[in-house]
Amino acid sequence: MKRLLSVCAVISGVLCGSSAISHAADKVEVLHWWTAGSEAEALNVLRQHLKTEGIGWQDMPVAGGGGDAAMTVLRARVTSGNPPTAAQMLGFDITDWAKAGQLASLDSVAGPEHWDAVIPRAIQRFSKYDGHWIGAPIDVHTTNWLWINKAALDAVGGKPPANWDQLIAVLDAMKAKGIIPLAQGGEDWQEATLFEAIVLGLGTDFYKKAFIELDPATLKGAKMAEAFTRLVKLRSYVDANFSGREWNLATAMVIQGKAGMQEMGDWAKGEFLRAGKTPWEDFVCIRFPGTQGAATFNADQFVMFKGGDKAGQIAMAKAVEDVEVQQDFNIIKGSVPARTDVPDTKFDACGKKGMADLKEADRNGTLFGSMAHGYAVPAAIKNAIYDVVTGVFNGDIDPEDGPSELADAVDLAK
Ligand code: BGC
Repeated sequence: MKRLLSVCAVISGVLCGSSAISHAADKVEVLHWWTAGSEAEALNVLRQHLKTEGIGWQDMPVAGGGGDAAMTVLRARVTSGNPPTAAQMLGFDITDWAKAGQLASLDSVAGPEHWDAVIPRAIQRFSKYDGHWIGAPIDVHTTNWLWINKAALDAVGGKPPANWDQLIAVLDAMKAKGIIPLAQGGEDWQEATLFEAIVLGLGTDFYKKAFIELDPATLKGAKMAEAFTRLVKLRSYVDANFSGREWNLATAMVIQGKAGMQEMGDWAKGEFLRAGKTPWEDFVCIRFPGTQGAATFNADQFVMFKGGDKAGQIAMAKAVEDVEVQQDFNIIKGSVPARTDVPDTKFDACGKKGMADLKEADRNGTLFGSMAHGYAVPAAIKNAIYDVVTGVFNGDIDPEDGPSELADAVDLAK
């Protein structure tokens, strides 16, 4: 037994524990926040793939985009010594768990399957810790998109807005036609998603200084004041019933033509496709005005915990990085594959644009982690930013006070 354990340690690090060699996985338990129709359908690709290998699936969904509720449930499970086989996770949450020494190494799968060569460096920064793989990315989403109902756009001239002034002109024209101009959900992470697009639209250096470097002068400066002014301006195009609305219900408003457009990550596209809609015929996908050429990303990853079912962890890690799984999952989900060797041929026009935009932004040094989705700053700082953005959006904080409140909140959370 002693010899077996030491061989085990050499071969595969932490993933190789007592049960790794003694049984094959019979099921995996997966914690995630994919509860919208298209999200569940995408996840089903993974589930079916495992099924063909004789591995069952125990679903552990925790509703709430951005994943904050899921992270709370996960913490309780890990603390009580009962982690799921795998958990969906984003950016800094992954590195924080890794720092705490809680994550299982995936090296025994990543090494032989050459993840180093096929997963983009920008994502590897969050999938590896101390040289070891601890996250298996399944997708790359970008958040600076605008989804427009094509008929609503045609009703106001048909030209997608390319800058802020054009955006306001289109919103005004839709309002005049009796269409709710902007579909917005009323949750802090959704308001933060809108806000980060506004910030990116005011300049890539500005986004970087504000949300990646957390530069105090930038956080409390004149440009940030402009960002809050724009946020409040956009708020005036939202209907009165937005409070508490989930993101997919806001997307449904655009799908049905009740609202003109929604700013949201490309998981929104999953809902359009699920409703049988076609890009550029029924809906338009453009970068949020002023952000073409840049992108804010969040890649969903699966992490496994030390002490979890080893055989299940290995099966899950392999399945997540399967080329066909990545292709089929991402076509449904609205995202692009986390592997660079998945062909774009089967993706729709928006998916192809997503892939091309990501490459371009990466080449130009304008690919940044999404603040709203955990890829720019750790959770405590992200939540501090959420509070101020939500406060301004909902009229609890004066927009003029936004910059100083933001700088103070970030400073306190650091
Ligand atoms: C996740 C997406 C998900 C979205 C809404 C984001 O944080 O990265 O995969 O679709 O939240 O639930």
